[in-house]
Amino acid sequence: MTGELSPIDKAKFVAAKRAADLVEDGMRVGLGTGSTAAWLVRCLGDMVRKEGLKMRGVPTSTRTAQLAREVGIEVITLDEARWLDITIDGADEFDGDLNLIKGGGGALLQEKIVATASDQMVVIADLGKEVSRLGAFPLPVEVIPFGWQTTQALLEETLISMDVLGRTATLRMNGDTPFVTDEGNHILDLHLQRIGNARQLALVLNQIPGVVENGLFIDICDTVVVGHGDGRVEIR
Ligand code: 5RP
Repeated sequence: MTGELSPIDKAKFVAAKRAADLVEDGMRVGLGTGSTAAWLVRCLGDMVRKEGLKMRGVPTSTRTAQLAREVGIEVITLDEARWLDITIDGADEFDGDLNLIKGGGGALLQEKIVATASDQMVVIADLGKEVSRLGAFPLPVEVIPFGWQTTQALLEETLISMDVLGRTATLRMNGDTPFVTDEGNHILDLHLQRIGNARQLALVLNQIPGVVENGLFIDICDTVVVGHGDGRVEIR
């Protein structure tokens, strides 16, 4: 499955492999989205096919659902599972309090719902995702398409009153057309540079009409498994 990996892929793989070992027979597992989470899904698929692991997965995107089925994982919906034993997902940034920015892959809405409905959320990441303060990575905010430019203006106005450096919200594109999430929404990426009070910002953003969810995961993640390019793994 791994062949010759670049250091970054090796870091993602070893983090995913360590987290996959947390999955036990009978567990209902939230499956994240992104390149690191894809390694996890492949690892779990191997365990299902080769070691007879009995688990069911709730994917956080159509991409992850497709990959999970391809590798032999039984896929169920969140409503079928009702509650999950564990969710394992990647992140765009994590800080010392294990708060996160997620949504670089555009799946933040399902990712937040699934992680919140889990006994524990484990993030898998390479060391490059660790920051002392969140905000260098553009913060994704999912908005409904109706009146998105008005929502954008409201967002930018709101940012002026917050402890952030940048105040620009840009519409995420997919080539020439706006990016569309699995829920049929758009994403506005907030270029903040540095978030002073992430908890407050997360609450304020979700008060704005037209905003569906934001990519700040506050007090949701329990553990971060950090992979290194030389194969070492650290647990935070
Ligand atoms: C998708 C996400 C991803 O977990 C995040 O973007 C990290 O992706 P990658 O593992 O490819 O770096 O939040 O919405």
